[in-house]
Amino acid sequence: MKGGSVVERIFEWLGEPVYYTDLGAMYLGDSKELLKKLPRESVDLVITSPPFPLQREKPYGRFCFEDEFVEWFMPFAEQVRRVLKRTGSFVIDLGGTYVKGRPIRSLYQYRLLIRLCDDLGFALPEEFFWFNPSKLPSPIEWVNKRKIRVKDAVNVIWWLAKDDYPKVRLENVLIEYSDRMKLLLKLGERFYKPKDRPSGHKISEKFMKLGEKKGAIPPNLLVIPNTDSNSKYVRYCRAVNTQPHPTRFPIELPEFFIKFLTDPKDLVVDIFAGSNAVGEAAQALGRCWISIETNLEYVANSAFRFLDGNESAESLTRIYNCIMQGETGIHIKRKCKGILSY
Ligand SMILES: C[S@@+](CC[C@H](N)C(=O)[O-])C[C@H]1O[C@@H](n2cnc3c(N)ncnc32)[C@H](O)[C@@H]1O
Repeated sequence: MKGGSVVERIFEWLGEPVYYTDLGAMYLGDSKELLKKLPRESVDLVITSPPFPLQREKPYGRFCFEDEFVEWFMPFAEQVRRVLKRTGSFVIDLGGTYVKGRPIRSLYQYRLLIRLCDDLGFALPEEFFWFNPSKLPSPIEWVNKRKIRVKDAVNVIWWLAKDDYPKVRLENVLIEYSDRMKLLLKLGERFYKPKDRPSGHKISEKFMKLGEKKGAIPPNLLVIPNTDSNSKYVRYCRAVNTQPHPTRFPIELPEFFIKFLTDPKDLVVDIFAGSNAVGEAAQALGRCWISIETNLEYVANSAFRFLDGNESAESLTRIYNCIMQGETGIHIKRKCKGILSY
């Protein structure tokens, strides 16, 4: 974001948030409505995880059945398309589910993808898959009791864009080479001769100029366990006796896409923010952010993500209660000693 202070511009667009930092702001409300207030082509990345159409009631409610989800989601997506810059991306994390009462999978993620591309004109630069090795087996009926299905531990992540060439910063997400590759780099031509591989890949001389390479290209399978039980956010929730968000992102997930698809100071938005993991990741990476969530308790305890690590239970309770009682415009100054001023 350029010109004026970031937060001043966010205030101009959306009004006073519940809390804000030097880079971003958290709003309580329906994102479908709040998105309408953002200017056209103002956002670099929308990354989000909507409430999935589950068969069981979750603590934050079930929003719709799997066969209603696409219609429910489309009005949000229309607004997202309007506010995204031409180079922007829309990243949606979606968990799988079963058709009610039957041991067959719902196709809702794929139906949604096709509608987003066919009806709204989004392009699919690439699909990602998030493998969470720590996911519990479910649904109980098909997996645990009757034992006719295996554990579903992979979410799809649709990376959508307005056109074929969204902003990409691959250099920010390169990963460490495997030991075998490191050996290959060390031994060079003694070990490897340029030639055509049986697969049809042409391995040229250039392949060996690995001194210039900074890391390996990551695959579109992200292996990230979701096991956090002792982060500052969770500890602070415990101290105040409020429930942490039950389906929050591991911070590494938004981190990956923010690094991959944005530059510092770009604007990142989460339209179903929950515990505001996206805001925390954006803040840490120096990106501007806007987060929107309908549930007041989640908004209140998400503020803990932006406080220093040595807050007393009294001070946490004071902050939490202020938000629960409807206070807004709370300025969280991360690096200040007093932490909270408003
Ligand atoms: C799967 S959770 C998101 C969790 C989040 N990714 C995190 O890391 O904590 C979905 C959230 O969307 C919120 N939500 C549902 N409808 C909404 C709406 N219309 N506007 C904003 N938030 C909404 C729910 O209250 C819920 O907290």
